[in-house]
Amino acid sequence: MSTKLENIGACVFDAYGTLFDVNSAAAQCKDDLGDDWEALSDIWRMKQLNYTWLRSLMEEYRDFWQITGDALDFAMDTLGINDNALRGKLMNLYSTLDAYPEVPAMLKTLRANNVKTAILSNGSPNMLGSAVEHASLGKLFDAVISVDSLQIYKPHPSVYQLAVDELNLPAEQICFMSSNAWDVAGAANFGFQVNWVNRFGQARERLPGEPVNEIKALDELPALLGH
Ligand code: 2OP
Repeated sequence: MSTKLENIGACVFDAYGTLFDVNSAAAQCKDDLGDDWEALSDIWRMKQLNYTWLRSLMEEYRDFWQITGDALDFAMDTLGINDNALRGKLMNLYSTLDAYPEVPAMLKTLRANNVKTAILSNGSPNMLGSAVEHASLGKLFDAVISVDSLQIYKPHPSVYQLAVDELNLPAEQICFMSSNAWDVAGAANFGFQVNWVNRFGQARERLPGEPVNEIKALDELPALLGH
C-alpha cells in the first residue's frame, strides 16, 4: 500500500545504486573478467562503502574517487587479478556509469510538473559531474550536492543537512530516494520523507529511520507525488 507524499518542496536522489548502475562498470568488462565480473563488482561496492564508513569514523577523509580506486584494488587483489590496464578501464567506466533505464523519463515527468530536483551523494564533484553529463541528465537537476565540502560521508546527519541548506527547505518537505537501505535509514532518521528504491529485493535494515514507501524502481515516484 503506497502513501501519497504531501507538501514536498523538492525530490532529492542518492546517486550510486539509485540513479546510476554501480554494476555497469564491471558488467562492461565481462570479456576481461569472465565469471569473476559479478564477484568483482560486489566486493568493489561493498569495500567502497565500508571505506566511507571507516574513514568517517577514523576522521581520515579521502574523496570518493580515491576510495573507489582503493576498493577496486582490494577487490582485484582478492580475486588474484593483477592488470593495471584493466584497472584503468574499470575506473574510467565508473566515471561514466549507465543511468538505470527509467531515470530520464521519471526526471522529465518531475520537470514537467515543476518539481525541484537534486542529487545528494558521497560522490566527489568531478565524479558526479561526469556521471550526470554522460547520462545527459544535466538539465534535469536544480542542484548536485556532494559530501566533499563536509569531508565526512553518509549517513552522518550533516550530509542530509547539506540538502536542507542548499534547497532552503525544512527536512520534512524533502522527498529523498535511495536504493541503499542504510542511506534510507540515515535520511529518514534525519527527517526527510524517504522512498526506498529496493531494486535488489533486500530485507529491511534494523536501524532507526523508516521509509514512507518501498518501491521497486523510480518510475513509481511521480504517482506518489500526484503526477
Ligand atoms: C551515494 O552517496 C550512497 O554511494 C551512494 O551516491
